[in-house]
Amino acid sequence: MRFDRTTRRVALALAAGLLTASALPAVAQDGPKKIRIGVIGAGNIGGTIGTLWVKDGHEVMFASRHPETLAPMIAELGPKAKAGTPEEAVKFGDAVFVAVPYKAYPELSKDLGASLTGKVVLDAGNATQKRDGALYDEVQANGIGATSAKYFPGAKLVRAFNAANYKVFAKAGADGGKDRPGGRMAIPIAGDDTAAVKVAEGLVRDAGFDPVVVGPLKDADKFAMGSSGFGHEATAPELREKLGLGK
Ligand SMILES: NC(=O)c1ccc[n+]([C@@H]2O[C@H](COP(=O)([O-])OP(=O)(O)OC[C@H]3O[C@@H](n4cnc5c(N)ncnc54)[C@H](OP(=O)(O)O)[C@@H]3O)[C@@H](O)[C@H]2O)c1
Repeated sequence: MRFDRTTRRVALALAAGLLTASALPAVAQDGPKKIRIGVIGAGNIGGTIGTLWVKDGHEVMFASRHPETLAPMIAELGPKAKAGTPEEAVKFGDAVFVAVPYKAYPELSKDLGASLTGKVVLDAGNATQKRDGALYDEVQANGIGATSAKYFPGAKLVRAFNAANYKVFAKAGADGGKDRPGGRMAIPIAGDDTAAVKVAEGLVRDAGFDPVVVGPLKDADKFAMGSSGFGHEATAPELREKLGLGK
């Protein structure tokens, strides 16, 4: 799997999950069922994870504020991949993957907040002091889960795919993660909506990883950037032990 700049650009906006409450668990649990995913931010992380979903058979719309720049990536990924604006990706997706710099959250909230209401949103954003300024301070004060929820108040938010570098995800998730020595890499996730967490678990598996549900959204701090739960390339049992979650 190549993850050059072109391929990474393809993965934009994982926006959206407009799923009914009853449809959510079915989508999450049934491996063969494929959904539409909008990827907001087709950069390093959105491009990488979105590509893994395309390779698993999901339909993915990668979003860019300049979607025409994604054309080479879309061509490379084939008919399951599309490019669109962030607004189009939110509408397209049964679930949405947000993978933009954290400082863009206030703007994204204004532009997309209403259309994200009721959607399953996987949130990979991390706040860094250098890049995100005031948003970093807000996260330090209130926690990453609460801060994301403030900007996307109507969304069924699940923190996911934030806790490692995209190059690690690209390698560990390749070929469904099955050839990884020692077993699949674990992805910590946290969310308040049980059905949305189930959807996220399914999408984590479909990308080639094993989900580890850490707890409600506030527990996303346990694997936030800078925490002791961040940056582990571990299997699910190993990660559960590191996070003190028991067997
Ligand atoms: N890089 C990693 O390894 C990694 C790992 C885990 C989590 N994360 C987190 O994931 C997020 C993205 O990181 P990244 O490394 O993938 O960044 P990146 O490569 O710079 O990509 C970010 C993308 O977001 C889009 N974007 C920027 N501002 C936007 C806005 N206001 N509205 C809509 N789209 C916007 C840009 O697309 P257009 O300019 O085409 O619109 C860009 O392609 C960050 O919060 C980061 O902390 C990164």
